Amino acid sequence: MNRQKTVRRDFLKTTLVGSAAMSTPYFLSSTRSFAQGTSSKNDKMSIGVIGAGGMANGNINAARDWVDVVAVADVDSKRSASFSEQFSDGKADEYEDYREILDRDDIDLIHVATPDHWHTKPLIEAMLAGKDVYCEKPLTLTIDEGKLIRKVQKETGRIVQVGTQQRSTFNLFVKAMAIVADGRIGKIRQVQAAIGGAPTSPSIPVAAVPDELNWDRWLGPAPKVPYRFLAREGKGRPNTNCHYEFRWWYQYSGGKLTDWGAHHVDICNWALKLNGQTEGPVSISGAAKHPVEFKDGFPVQDDRYNTTTDFHFSVKYPGDTEMIIRNDTDNGVLITGDKGRIFVNRRKLAGKPVEDLADNPLPEDALSKVYKGLPMELNERKAHWANFLHCVRERKEPISDVHSHMEMLNVCHLAGISARLGRDLKWDDSSEQIVGDEEANSFLARPYREGYEIEMRETANS
Ligand SMILES: NC(=O)c1ccc[n+]([C@@H]2O[C@H](COP(=O)([O-])OP(=O)(O)OC[C@H]3O[C@@H](n4cnc5c(N)ncnc54)[C@H](O)[C@@H]3O)[C@@H](O)[C@H]2O)c1
Repeated sequence: MNRQKTVRRDFLKTTLVGSAAMSTPYFLSSTRSFAQGTSSKNDKMSIGVIGAGGMANGNINAARDWVDVVAVADVDSKRSASFSEQFSDGKADEYEDYREILDRDDIDLIHVATPDHWHTKPLIEAMLAGKDVYCEKPLTLTIDEGKLIRKVQKETGRIVQVGTQQRSTFNLFVKAMAIVADGRIGKIRQVQAAIGGAPTSPSIPVAAVPDELNWDRWLGPAPKVPYRFLAREGKGRPNTNCHYEFRWWYQYSGGKLTDWGAHHVDICNWALKLNGQTEGPVSISGAAKHPVEFKDGFPVQDDRYNTTTDFHFSVKYPGDTEMIIRNDTDNGVLITGDKGRIFVNRRKLAGKPVEDLADNPLPEDALSKVYKGLPMELNERKAHWANFLHCVRERKEPISDVHSHMEMLNVCHLAGISARLGRDLKWDDSSEQIVGDEEANSFLARPYREGYEIEMRETANS
């Protein structure tokens, strides 16, 4: 643990609000440092990693030719140690508190791969500290967090790539978007995101917190509850309210609605936008089953997974366009227009408009047009990192930008609120409020536990 950094952090804390932050031209400082090369001796870009679990491993493995991991923060010291060992021969500085990475002037890039309830806070603080960020999806647990992220991103001008790598999968999702944008399926009537349901668990007993884990910091902004763990010999992952399995608790995630919704609802929304559907949704209706009883939108049992296992939602848009979000059919996105339909998932792109490409190919620049004219190198996760690093150098908006992400995440969150309350909702997209339902609107934000509030500071443009 790099303890000497704590002193600097205390100093910074007292100068955060006001002149110190306001006098820093974030945009210029970062552009200059990349134009001059990086501080890293092997000429890769220096990066600090926050959250050293499964996804950070996969991501940095994809980007390891271009980035040099100089610091890693995890509340589980075994994980930060093994991450440092794997990606920098043990030379990366290890921290428990990620804010010590944000305080370092020699790090311009941050990767956030913490559990979902720990995305918004480090992302906002990283932007305010002048860093560019590759942050895992979903960026938020609530709609109001999304508003704040958009505001801070706009004010700071930081480059933020969301970890929705389907947007950089050229042979499948990007090609599907090019087919839509080229008018091959006509006017879209319906988009469907089939995303699977969440698993259930037995009662998971309270267990001793492992020595290497700071459980209070893992919980962070979420309510204080005991650590739970149940080994499942020979049956794969243990049941827990911590590593990886946090996905199946509304306290830390939106369940499948945001875990996979962030991928497939994103593709549905991208298709609608390319097809000229400029206005947001007006209502959501449907039904959802949970593995425990819910009262006033909250689970009454606290000892087992609680996110929705079975659901079917219909989201209506002006002009009679519909988005379906469901768990019960083949994982993937089905896009139906008045001239045809296509299906796309991580293995295939199918449908008559796809077959027709053999005789009537897309224009040469069709994919590039939907990919914002940005370079198209490699594929999938590697391409997504290449896109981020290119946009950092060129100060351009990456392919998975915070604005489109929030637009579609609003839909996922609305589905979650509707599921938890067990009723249909009307949505006013311009004010980002649920219409005529005070209780539902109370789910637009969440309380942050004392000591884990977002540390705001002024920016030059605030
Ligand atoms: N893009 C994709 O396809 C994809 C795939 C899998 C996961 N993900 C996303 O990646 C994120 C991480 O998922 P995972 O499966 O790697 O989870 P994980 O539980 O394996 O890893 C998360 C890590 O973050 C650490 N952590 C928790 N709080 C922290 C804090 N305050 N500071 C620093 N570290 C902290 C945990 O100790 C853990 O090591 C999730 O948001 C998930 O949605 C994305």
